Amino acid sequence: MAISSESEPGTIRSNLSGTLERVTQNVTRGVTSGALTGLAAGAGLLVGSQVALRAGVWVQPRPMPHQQAAWLEHPLRLRYRKPGDLLGKVGLFAGMSVADLGCGSGLFTQEMAQRVGETGTVHAVDLQAQMIAHAQQRVSAAGVSKQVRFHQSGIHTLPLPDGSIDVALMVAVLGELPARVLALDEVRRVLKPGARLAISEELPDPAYAPAPLVRRWAEEAGFRFGGLTGTPFCYTMLLFAET
Ligand SMILES: C[S@@+](CC[C@H](N)C(=O)[O-])C[C@H]1O[C@@H](n2cnc3c(N)ncnc32)[C@H](O)[C@@H]1O
Repeated sequence: MAISSESEPGTIRSNLSGTLERVTQNVTRGVTSGALTGLAAGAGLLVGSQVALRAGVWVQPRPMPHQQAAWLEHPLRLRYRKPGDLLGKVGLFAGMSVADLGCGSGLFTQEMAQRVGETGTVHAVDLQAQMIAHAQQRVSAAGVSKQVRFHQSGIHTLPLPDGSIDVALMVAVLGELPARVLALDEVRRVLKPGARLAISEELPDPAYAPAPLVRRWAEEAGFRFGGLTGTPFCYTMLLFAET
């Protein structure tokens, strides 16, 4: 019986390998486009949720929930948040009376207390008792609680006398306040004439406020712009209380 050339073993092998190659290509194409679709959907969800979260905080500013306090000291945050670097630029010295407004877990309070020393005072203010408890633990573990006074209070009505503070700090706080200009006006009240306010903002914070807006609010509240350091991702603005 004649065997057609198509049935030759070599031809069968090459047909088979061609088919296999096409199947592999189709599967690869399918997997790749599936993965790309998945990635695009994931990125879309992430961007969408961030936009929704930030718009929500913008429309209705609110304090960061104290249950998220651990994030304030997360190693990822500490990569760009270095209290020593920031306070070095602001200029804190022994014997000063300073304020950490919206102190959270006390990351900056501790460093401020170390810089002003036992002859100085740090007023650490926060709306949430649980945040103050974290900060108290932190400063006492660092052995600097003697020079820290804690106040559970809103920034809009500070329990501090007029013209009593040399330097005030607001890190990742301003965007959480419902009435920014009023709050800044209150901060100016407690500052000594010509004293400094440092406002620092970071992009991962859902309540992030961009520098041009912060400068406008501060100038409206009677502060004089004193300079900007860092990048839009994480910046610090120095302001002077006008007399
Ligand atoms: C994102 S955390 C930043 C904490 C700290 N400054 C830091 O950078 O690690 C903001 C803090 O501001 C506090 N806060 C928000 N609104 C406040 C207000 N009106 N008065 C006082 N504290 C407030 C919150 O309770 C929270 O502890």
